Amino acid sequence: MAEKRIKGFSKLSKEGKIEWLVNNYFDNQEQAYKTLKKYWNSDAKLQKLHDEFIENTISNFYTPYGVAPNFKVDGKMFTLPMAIEESSVVAAASKSASFWLERGGFRTTIISTVKIGHVHFIYPGDPEKLHSFFESVKERFFEDTSSITANMRARGGGIQSIELRDRTDAIDHYYQLEARFETCDSMGANFINSCLEQFSKTFTEALAKDHRFTEAEKEVQVIMCILSNYTPECLVRAEVSCPIEDLDDGSGISPEEFASKFARAVHIAEVEPYRATTHNKGIMNGIDAVIIATGNDFRAVEAACHTYASSSGQYTSLTHCTVQNGKFRFWIEVPLALGTVGGLTTLHPLVKFSLEMLGKPTAAELMSIVASSGLAQNFAALRALVTTGIQKGHMKMHLLNILNQLEATEAEKAIIIDHFKHNTVSHSAAVQKFCEVRGIEKSEVGIKKS
Ligand code: MEV
Repeated sequence: MAEKRIKGFSKLSKEGKIEWLVNNYFDNQEQAYKTLKKYWNSDAKLQKLHDEFIENTISNFYTPYGVAPNFKVDGKMFTLPMAIEESSVVAAASKSASFWLERGGFRTTIISTVKIGHVHFIYPGDPEKLHSFFESVKERFFEDTSSITANMRARGGGIQSIELRDRTDAIDHYYQLEARFETCDSMGANFINSCLEQFSKTFTEALAKDHRFTEAEKEVQVIMCILSNYTPECLVRAEVSCPIEDLDDGSGISPEEFASKFARAVHIAEVEPYRATTHNKGIMNGIDAVIIATGNDFRAVEAACHTYASSSGQYTSLTHCTVQNGKFRFWIEVPLALGTVGGLTTLHPLVKFSLEMLGKPTAAELMSIVASSGLAQNFAALRALVTTGIQKGHMKMHLLNILNQLEATEAEKAIIIDHFKHNTVSHSAAVQKFCEVRGIEKSEVGIKKS
């Protein structure tokens, strides 16, 4: 609609942006304005900090910040920060952590910490010439980026390798400069992209001056320089294990039956993409929540994990389980490119708080913690699924959301929660009990108690 178009929106003040927005999209403009303002922080400095994280900021969008204690990871105790809006996730993580605390905790291995980036380019010439040219200029890629890499090298990182990849099998004349990086405790996106852009410059300038190439061959077209969020060489493994008989937790099902059903559930996720997607979604509940709370990029990690889960050609489970020789073993292997310095880590007060709560971990330690959180979450989900079913615990947690929607008072909540300690929760049962406690008809739901 023409009247909803605007030029120069980004140049308006915050108030100006809000005014344009509420005037154009809302019936009750005063209410819309109030909703946005309700979420502004009263500390103007803190609000400005958040305003400046992104562009066109008009308010803050809260996500609950919870904690899951009792995580024993490689012998060290952690309380995990979790930023997530979904009920049950923090409870599930805590429950798993306590269960495995009694059984040795989580043990992890950092398999590798390498990140990869590419200069993608089109070269319409003789491949042999390109290969020998690449070998002759290879050292210059390192030399020309030496000022960009100086700090990283001082910390033990930097560029590990640069290779020429021929991808003409996929697209005519398509090649890549593929570089491997060690970025230590930083996620390293800016570092990698800066190196790649310099590689591109070095490469095109040197090629243009090289008399071995014809004028037509010098028509190299650099398409883009960008890190890859697929990080199969930035990999961590977390594992829990115990004798089968130790799986007995009084839930009514024998440890042998539990182990066998649990392993089958994992096996189903390994072979069935419909189930694998939900199975991995549960894992990402645990992974993303800690990643967000520690100021890392959950979209990058999501993308990497799902590509990794498809690396065999079929989307499959990120976790695996064996029940052999009287032993239950359950593990996860995931690519986690994380940082504990740079980015939001020193800017966002709650991110700083999370990292301090975790004992100021290195990026590798954070990989271990996050992988354990994903494994814990998957253990809790499968444990519920193969025993009581997921809805029992889930609906208990969801009850509070239903009661908040109904605008139940604290006293009403206490009575209703107590009732559902011994009764099955459903949306209609919760509404019915709410009506009974408040003394109203179902038709009156939504009308505020005076
Ligand atoms: C819900 O957020 C996650 C689960 O569906 C995961 C699973 O089914 O394994 C419970």
